[in-house]
Amino acid sequence: MSFAARLASELDQFRRDGVYKRLNYLASPQAARVRMEGRGEVVILSSNNYLGLCSTPAVVEAGQRALDQYGAGTGSVRFICGTFTIHRELEAALARFVGCESALTYGSCWNANEGLCPTLLGEQDIVISDQLNHASIIDSIRLAKTITKCQTAVYRHSDMADLEERLKAAKDRRLRLIFSDGIFSMEGDIAKLPDIAALARKYDAVVAIDDSHATGVLGQTGRGTAEHFGMVGEVDIITSTLGKALGGAAGGFTAGPAALTDYLTQRSRPQLFSNALPPTVASATSSSTPSWSGGCTKTRAISARS
Ligand SMILES: Cc1ncc(COP(=O)(O)O)c(C=O)c1O
Repeated sequence: MSFAARLASELDQFRRDGVYKRLNYLASPQAARVRMEGRGEVVILSSNNYLGLCSTPAVVEAGQRALDQYGAGTGSVRFICGTFTIHRELEAALARFVGCESALTYGSCWNANEGLCPTLLGEQDIVISDQLNHASIIDSIRLAKTITKCQTAVYRHSDMADLEERLKAAKDRRLRLIFSDGIFSMEGDIAKLPDIAALARKYDAVVAIDDSHATGVLGQTGRGTAEHFGMVGEVDIITSTLGKALGGAAGGFTAGPAALTDYLTQRSRPQLFSNALPPTVASATSSSTPSWSGGCTKTRAISARS
């Protein structure tokens, strides 16, 4: 059987199993109501455009201004000649917003997650992951395990007793990294951040939260899971997307201590070998990121533990 024929036969099986995805084509901006090819006007309840910013005029205009000022794209990866002033402005705003010292943008949160574990972890380290974490976290951990031979463990979804067992068993590791979604993408429940942070303190672990579904919408001023629990500045590492509440275009970021983002700038492969965020996206997201000047308050120093 030829390569294409085998794929076609597997696709037929997807159809028989009822898991084949048919793409819907939108002919208008993402919004509460859209024009969908073949269906007319449709009410959208399933997108992550939580604040409706995808089509908000000020956000669109910010993207247009950046197109005039910087052109269509960076034409390069960040460290060669792809870092624009608009990237620096956006990263400073994101860091202030999520309460971390520093932030580094990526082409997507998938890339931010994928760039984290394989860069941060080595053979002497372990990452302990919630069972229902997003696919990008799972793939980041798989990649880290393959590349660096770090240890990995999975705890039952939001089961703090199980997490504690995994932490106890990892006492001899140089770095214990707990990785969890902030809001879980499929279930919609919120991670037990106060309990996770207490266990991290008890077992000297570092906490990473993927706040993709929380950034912009959870907490009194939309600063995410940490704000929801009154813990802004207490999460070691936050990854998040720019493709949901914050403008909805694309992109992602990792926030944490300045040493972390500097280290990722040096070593994280999606950062080193993939183009920077288009300036249009950086500018549109900048215009949709609330300015908050509190900055980092209590972020602990990861370097002290490794
Ligand atoms: C929890 C979580 N992390 C990461 C991502 C990936 O975000 P991006 O679209 O920026 O790659 C998603 C997207 O659905 C998500 O739900």
